[in-house]
Amino acid sequence: MSQSVKTNHGNIPYLECPQYLAELMQCPSDYENIMENYTGRVISRLAFGVPDHYLEIRQYSHGLLKAISPAAYITNIIPQLRFLPSWVSPWKWTEKRRHAEERVFFMRMHDEVAARMNAKTAKTSFMRHVLERKVETGLSDEEAAYIVGMIGLAGVLTTSSALMTYLLAMTLYPEWQARLQTEVDTICGERMPELSDAPRMPILRAVIMELLRWRPITPSSMSSLYYLRQ
Ligand code: HEM
Repeated sequence: MSQSVKTNHGNIPYLECPQYLAELMQCPSDYENIMENYTGRVISRLAFGVPDHYLEIRQYSHGLLKAISPAAYITNIIPQLRFLPSWVSPWKWTEKRRHAEERVFFMRMHDEVAARMNAKTAKTSFMRHVLERKVETGLSDEEAAYIVGMIGLAGVLTTSSALMTYLLAMTLYPEWQARLQTEVDTICGERMPELSDAPRMPILRAVIMELLRWRPITPSSMSSLYYLRQ
């Protein structure tokens, strides 16, 4: 992931932005779907070089999140139940099936990028980066497929969740949207904000930081666990 600066990956969210904003303006009430599709296309490009796999990334990310949720299987609350034999553990059958389907997807993406690299048509992506260094790292096909596949799954719902928190915040505190808009207009004029504008946009930065603090996406401290219980 540290190669992202060199490979200009920071540009990828901007490529997908026009479609995202157009969809949001056409059908604002479908924001959840539109935001997950947007971050899905960004992550699909980042992981595999093309936006096409966003629906599958969403599907497998939802599957993974559901599986690790305390509400999913009773073993997530009473781990000792994992010692029960398979025939009385329906959660084991479900998980085996989910794992098998996810594995097929990851391996297919590995093979697809490898084929595009052979044909010299592979765009920059985490998968291409991992495959280019396979001899050096000694990774197996499966290891390479999982390293990148899991990055894809980790990146899609986390980021769309942050976008949804932004909508919630602006709905509750519209005065902050007005302050943000003034900052964007002052610094960027008619164009969209870019990463290089960040040092000159303290309000935007503060809002982003506050969104992540106010509604933590992952429980990473005692206070966020307290929030999740509310
Ligand atoms: C607002 C967005 C995000 C939040 C809040 C978030 C949060 C987290 C947290 C709390 C962890 C666990 C860290 C630990 O306990 O060691 C984690 C791990 C991880 N995240 Fe994110 N993440 C976000 C976005 C992303 C994105 C966009 C990607 C990929 C492009 C990503 C990829 C990963 C990976 C691969 C791991 C596992 C790292 C490891 O264990 O080696 N995350 N993330």
